[in-house]
Amino acid sequence: MTTYNNITEAWSDKALSMAREPLNLGEMLVYDAVSLLRGPCGDRMSIWIKLEGNVIDKISFMTDGCGATFAAGSAVTQLAKRCTIFKARSITPQAVINACNGLPASHLHCAILAVHTLNKTLDKL
Ligand code: FES
Repeated sequence: MTTYNNITEAWSDKALSMAREPLNLGEMLVYDAVSLLRGPCGDRMSIWIKLEGNVIDKISFMTDGCGATFAAGSAVTQLAKRCTIFKARSITPQAVINACNGLPASHLHCAILAVHTLNKTLDKL
């Protein structure tokens, strides 16, 4: 079983602000790949990717999930932007948690959902 660091009791200021004002939020109309995934809690996330060569030029997400899902979607899309497909595949839930300056333990699965959705979209490229 994977263990994670940077698990917090309360929300970090950064995670809260990313949940309230997420970056890269919204449907993309012109894209190379999109996927939709439902997490174990029932919440869903979609990620759209538009490539420029082998590099992720544009990336966006939508979710009907909790605030942490918005923070995780914002984090994973920021981490993946301008990465090659190969490098984007190395983004981990831990990297998403760190980009949020930590997530509460009860929201770990939100970071996992964001990374799994990214990988599902990458699989379609
Ligand atoms: Fe379900 Fe965040 S993804 S609570």
